[in-house]
Amino acid sequence: MSDIDPDLIARWQALAAEVEAHSHRYYVLDQPTISDQAYDRLFRELEDLEREHPALRRPDSPTLRVGGPPLDSLSKLEHPTPMLSLDNSYDEREIGEFDARVRKLLGLERHLAYLVEPKLDGIAMELIYRDGMLESGITRGDGQVGEEVTASVRTIRNLPLRLAGSWPGLLAIRGEVVMTRSGFQTLNRKRIGRGEDAYINARNSTAGLVRNLDPKNAAEAPLRFFVHSAGLAEHARYPFQHAFVQLAQGMGFQAAAGIRRCEGVEQILAALHAIEALRPTLDYDIDGAVVKVDGVAEQEELGFRSRSPRWAIAYKFAAEQQTTRLLAIDVQVGRTGALTPVARVEPVFVGGVTVSNITLHNRDEIDRKDIRVGDVVVVQRAGDVIPQVVRSLPEQRSGELPPFDFPTACPVCGTEAVEVEGEVAIRCPNTWGCAAQVQAALRHFAGRDAMDVDGLGEKLIAQLVEAGLVTTPADLYTLTIPQLAGLERMADKSAENLHAAIDVSRGRALHRVLYALGIRHVGRTVSKKLCAHFGTWEALVAASVEELEAVEEIGPILARTLVGWLAVERNQSVVQGLRDGGVLFPDVEAAEVPEGALQPFAGKSVVVTGTLESMSRDQAKAAIEAGGGKASGSISGKTDFLVAGAKAGSKLKKAEGLGVAVLDEAAFLAMLEGTA
Ligand code: IVH
Repeated sequence: MSDIDPDLIARWQALAAEVEAHSHRYYVLDQPTISDQAYDRLFRELEDLEREHPALRRPDSPTLRVGGPPLDSLSKLEHPTPMLSLDNSYDEREIGEFDARVRKLLGLERHLAYLVEPKLDGIAMELIYRDGMLESGITRGDGQVGEEVTASVRTIRNLPLRLAGSWPGLLAIRGEVVMTRSGFQTLNRKRIGRGEDAYINARNSTAGLVRNLDPKNAAEAPLRFFVHSAGLAEHARYPFQHAFVQLAQGMGFQAAAGIRRCEGVEQILAALHAIEALRPTLDYDIDGAVVKVDGVAEQEELGFRSRSPRWAIAYKFAAEQQTTRLLAIDVQVGRTGALTPVARVEPVFVGGVTVSNITLHNRDEIDRKDIRVGDVVVVQRAGDVIPQVVRSLPEQRSGELPPFDFPTACPVCGTEAVEVEGEVAIRCPNTWGCAAQVQAALRHFAGRDAMDVDGLGEKLIAQLVEAGLVTTPADLYTLTIPQLAGLERMADKSAENLHAAIDVSRGRALHRVLYALGIRHVGRTVSKKLCAHFGTWEALVAASVEELEAVEEIGPILARTLVGWLAVERNQSVVQGLRDGGVLFPDVEAAEVPEGALQPFAGKSVVVTGTLESMSRDQAKAAIEAGGGKASGSISGKTDFLVAGAKAGSKLKKAEGLGVAVLDEAAFLAMLEGTA
């Protein structure tokens, strides 16, 4: 900007500062001092000035809030320090336990000071400021690396593009991006007016808008940023969390309403209740509160567990309940033939999402809760995930409603349904003849953990079944390329690829083949155990119930189910069909761990990264599994060890961040050999 007239620069600076100050008063403080028209005039003046002298426009220009040019893609950016999460608690007792734990660790008898803050239900964001200027916005991602969303974040009206005060160096401010509830309604009305689909809930649309490649979309949306903590702070010092909140407000940030400083559990609980009472009055969604030790020295003394600080805990409000009307009950047929009733309800917004389908599990559940079509029902999202019908409200029935007439025949194939003693489910017994079950069985068979037939998805399976080309998994192995190419929307090349993928699956390991058959109770782990024990398919099918039960962790129900399944002629012919189709059913090479074998990784989850000298990564994984461990691909809080070879990169970093034990090659070999 050096060759620009200094007077012009001064004018730009004064104007930009004035626009930002009004913006801050309007959006953050909710105390505008000029009319909307007067603000628009100032804004236009600034735009005009920048149009005439484009060199004046700096990255903190308020005009950038309308959204810059669209991006081609989002790039990844590393967080200066990892973004961790919080432990959750769901009742007041756990808050008491948290306080006791914290005071015990600190060796304190007396009350401790906490800050209780609303827990915003938006998307986590880190804002990087360099020398006081907004440099980047990064989504949480995996906590180590997120997506750079600076262009969208810049459009958020209530965050400062330049910090008030002098803040040299790097400052990473963390908070939550949310959409206002009122703005969400307005935005949806606009979308509907334009013939677009309405957004279903504020949180998901916030995530979509922040990550949208065209920042104009974010600029149009009522997004807000609420500050709650700092990541790396080179020059900001604050002895208390409450002092941080004040400091951040002084920089120009907005903090959530209702933050309270408390001493002792009683005051914490009162603050939690106060925040819960505030919830319906707020213009943004919160799903709980966060209790933080106020003193930063105490926070530092307490430190972190692998994924979360010891000095803070989230308190989640009870699942929100709503009422809606039950429009219909549809009965679906799953892979095991179980007839599962699904409630179709008038769409209702509960626990952050719009719910319109809710599983009712089985007939007993409908009877027990006296749920009838036409009822007003109370629904909730348990653990904030799976929606449930809590109960019906019979007192709201207008007139008599008949109880639900649960079908006695399969709604898909019409076969009479059977009730198995001791089981709640009612099943369609027509396993290989019922289109619903056949399709589900094929989806399972082709799935990633089973035969892993690349490219054989749900839609294709439906087509194959409907065209009558496939009625059991065995039929897949008789399909020809012309048959596949004859399917709707199937190009010749895709037909060839699919044919090749089916061919590859012929060689899958025995435990995958067993699992792929979809026998009830025979999951992945059980399949591996059985195959490791018996070693060959022939030995497995020859085993009696008693012999099966003798295998570790195989119970009587499973043993009987398996023997029963294998005895059914139709199932035998499917197995024979697979063999005839060229599926190898390969013998297990290293069957059974010999008695007294070393199990150095028994029950442990181990990740291998980098290059090892003495073996390939697959060999290392096999060694871990032979040593009783689980070889996993990604690091999480549940990982016990990371084996790090040469050139280990991000996984090593992540493991260190999470406090996961790291083994170098020598230590790994020593453990395998039992010399560690
Ligand atoms: S403090 C070390 N305070 O909740 C973690 N987080 O479950 C420090 N969140 O990803 C986080 N409101 O984005 C904190 N008042 C608040 C919060 C809050 C919402 C989010 C945060 C984090 C998640 C953890």
